[in-house]
Amino acid sequence: MTSPHPPGAAPPPGCPAHDQGATDSDPLVRLYAPEFAADPHRHYAHLRQYGALAPVEVAPGVTAMLVTDYRAALELLNDDTTWSKDSRAWMETVPPDSAVIPMLGWRANALFNDGEVHRRYRQVITDSFRLVEPHELRARVRHAADTLIQGFGATGEVDLVSQYAQLLPMLMFNNLFGMPESYGHQLISAVGRMMDGASQEEANTANAAFQAYITEMVATKKAQRGPDVTSWFLDHPNGLSEEEVIQQIVLTMAAGNEPLGNLIGNALSRMLSDDRYYSTLSGGALTARDAIEEVLWNDPPMANYAAHYPRRDVFFHGTWVRAGQLVLVSYAAANTQSGTVSTEEVRSGAGAHLSWSAGPHACPVQRHALVIATTAIERLTAWLSDIELARPEQRMQWRPGGFQRALVALPARFTPITPHQAGATPWDSSPSPSTRPEPTSTPRQPASAS
Ligand code: HEM
Repeated sequence: MTSPHPPGAAPPPGCPAHDQGATDSDPLVRLYAPEFAADPHRHYAHLRQYGALAPVEVAPGVTAMLVTDYRAALELLNDDTTWSKDSRAWMETVPPDSAVIPMLGWRANALFNDGEVHRRYRQVITDSFRLVEPHELRARVRHAADTLIQGFGATGEVDLVSQYAQLLPMLMFNNLFGMPESYGHQLISAVGRMMDGASQEEANTANAAFQAYITEMVATKKAQRGPDVTSWFLDHPNGLSEEEVIQQIVLTMAAGNEPLGNLIGNALSRMLSDDRYYSTLSGGALTARDAIEEVLWNDPPMANYAAHYPRRDVFFHGTWVRAGQLVLVSYAAANTQSGTVSTEEVRSGAGAHLSWSAGPHACPVQRHALVIATTAIERLTAWLSDIELARPEQRMQWRPGGFQRALVALPARFTPITPHQAGATPWDSSPSPSTRPEPTSTPRQPASAS
């Protein structure tokens, strides 16, 4: 095993071994620890002292090698001869109830398979999403956004993470996969409980609700096809079985939901914390796309993932990695190897970031995800043009968990708006008892949100 500290290097920031007097046998950087979530870039700086790969802990007692170097990451992601995505042999070395199993446990889907099996599954996903027209996608996002804004618009305050960014992807998926709107809330409630599940029992109940939702969806579409992703999965010439279709739907929803929510949330937090975006909210300098690009470079929604296992012992960028050992890629560390990237650098062509991954398993729906995130932000800021952070003085709090880069909450306030009638837009500005005494800007121009 590699030494926990590189020779002659400083201990990791907040290193429990040094801060709390722990022994030298327990000083690995813990990707799951709140200290890591509070300041990942300081930890990446420490990990870079090992070279291209560094040892980390991804859950109590579960170690991995983390690639922090851009070129090494690119090489690994593109070399499926040396590296496999199949986690089955590795799973036998990890307690079955480990917290990382939901993210790393093998399934019969595109993400955990190699070669021909992978291509067969992935093609179903890429071909089906290709049938989603961008202008239709935008209209669907605007509808989902309006539904959510209607829920909190009259109150003048919102947690943009739990009431907007996390919910919008689920409403979108419910719609894209062809289910009636009423099912959107069933999906939100199941996935919400999966994320919040305090106990194993709650997590199991939520998981069962999610499975029931997907099973009903596939049964509905088997009985009557429609112009939707589920029907396209079922009818794809690659001929997936019903079980295989279900597995690819679960993957697509799971792979899309959390990173999309994080992308929207992280970009909104940048826009609301940075004066250069202020005028954008009423039509000006930096745009939602600038904020999204800044996030993709510096705070990628999937920060560390791309689980791979070498098929044989391999000497990789100066480190021996054993066959079957878990290796993760730090997209966040690789992107920021030469320091965090400014909007000016992005605009003048900073190169290519790895936030969508690269190689055969790169995100297959990048353009769709960008359309969804950009439209969601533009729609929100068009309606709530004076939206601002409710507690600007408070430091952003990040959810622990090394795979994702996700805010705990993003409380904001705005001049309340109310619908002319339930279920309809556009809305009027309508001061209510909860209205802030001094709105920060002139009332919205709803025409810009059409
Ligand atoms: C509509 C939303 C999205 C959908 C449906 C989606 C779907 C998927 C699928 C199916 C895969 C697996 C591909 C394969 O193994 O061949 C994947 C991979 C990936 N996606 Fe997306 N995605 C979405 C949004 C995003 C967003 C917003 C990000 C973050 C910027 C993201 C980052 C990634 C990354 C990094 C991978 C590689 C996974 C890994 O690290 O192993 N995706 N996505």
